[in-house]
Amino acid sequence: MGKNTFTLTDNRDGKSYEYDIMSGTRGPDVLDIRSFYKDSGMFTYDPGYTSTASCDSKITFIDGENSELRYRGIDIADLAGKHSYLDVCYLLMIGRLPTKEESNGFDLEIRHRSFVHEGLIRIFDAFPNHAHPMATLGSAVMALSTFYKEHLTLEDEDQFKEMRRRIVAKIPTIAAMAYRNSIGVPMIYPDVDRYFTENFLYMMRAYPGGKMKNIGNGLNEEIKQVEVDALDAIFTLHADHEQNASTTTVRAVGSTEAHPYVSIASGIAALWGSAHGGANEKVMDQLKLIGDIKNVPTYIAKAKDKHDPFRLMGFGHRVYKNRDPRAEALKGLQDKLREELNLDSKLLDVAAAVEEAALSDDYFKDRGLYPNIDFYSGVILTALKIPVEMFTPIFVIGRTVGWITQWSELKQDPSAKIARPRQLYTGK
Ligand code: ACO
Repeated sequence: MGKNTFTLTDNRDGKSYEYDIMSGTRGPDVLDIRSFYKDSGMFTYDPGYTSTASCDSKITFIDGENSELRYRGIDIADLAGKHSYLDVCYLLMIGRLPTKEESNGFDLEIRHRSFVHEGLIRIFDAFPNHAHPMATLGSAVMALSTFYKEHLTLEDEDQFKEMRRRIVAKIPTIAAMAYRNSIGVPMIYPDVDRYFTENFLYMMRAYPGGKMKNIGNGLNEEIKQVEVDALDAIFTLHADHEQNASTTTVRAVGSTEAHPYVSIASGIAALWGSAHGGANEKVMDQLKLIGDIKNVPTYIAKAKDKHDPFRLMGFGHRVYKNRDPRAEALKGLQDKLREELNLDSKLLDVAAAVEEAALSDDYFKDRGLYPNIDFYSGVILTALKIPVEMFTPIFVIGRTVGWITQWSELKQDPSAKIARPRQLYTGK
């Protein structure tokens, strides 16, 4: 066995440069090229960072070839539906699952931190009717930074901890307010007697002052335990996903010393795009557009046509070139809940036909394009009477813990630097 180094040779002049190979706990080895520019005067070229590890991290591990996803070493299949989402938040933030006592204490703290300043509620008055909830949610989280102006220092561990827990506690309240603003109904305050996920459904559905049930838009619908459990599992499956586009954005903004909630607001902006978290909304639009199983071959052909910009939403992933384990967990949940939640069977039939057609087609097989998490979450969220514009905000609620944990890790990393890539200049 040779040394744990890698030699790069410039064939123009025969000069060689040697770099250390870094090994993580698991996953591919990584070439440490930090001194490459200083040594050679050249940059590396990697648009979209397909071969770049931007940091080292102890939070989440993905093996995309073998459909594996672990939070702090624990397989996602042993977490979703088996531990509460709040216990998973604790796991991500602290590094281990809580004891019963710690779990109760954390739950209580999150309940009490779920209220937002009255001034933040009034910000929603300034937005036009029918504004998309992702736009108002991102703006309100940005505005949250104006209410918590403290300068965070790593030495003040209490303040640091409070800042992380506060955003996890408040995000469902702000998301529910963004929804209520979008349909012009009065805001609902959190109810501390309810668990995190039930509380979110309550803030989405409650109608003040009335006992009448089912008044439209899912308002005043009774909350079933099976719905709370399903949404709780969905939050867990979205909680973190290592250095994806929105997390990379959070880290990049955080690296400039921006306020933590400003960094989170930037993550929300990045998540909104249809190539990322916004895909769940697009999946539903697309399934409705396809409309019937007889139209599936036409849309599969469009997705394969290089001259047609149409892409099959909810298919493909930068890391998973095999099945997305989150999608597998959701598919299991979807099958289990089909009866109990009265899932829209026409939409499910179209989804099943799209999946079957794509999985047996060489175009998708050759490129490793499988259904991702967004392909299944939409159908389940529809059954939970969550309107389509709230699909990506639901993703935000689940992912906020991942973003803030990654942000903390960045802040505690002595080797962290401002995110500042270079370029290959091809202009005049
Ligand atoms: N439909 C049709 N073709 C596709 C699709 C798709 N959904 N996804 C990828 N391809 C094709 C590409 O055209 C390309 O083909 P080529 O090699 O012949 O040029 C090949 O597969 C590789 O695709 P890339 O775009 O290079 O892969 P990348 O890793 O950069 O992109 C992405 C991954 C953005 C997720 C892509 O698969 C996509 O756009 N999917 C649809 C949107 C979606 O579902 N996004 C959610 C991702 S999961 C998440 O963020 C939670």
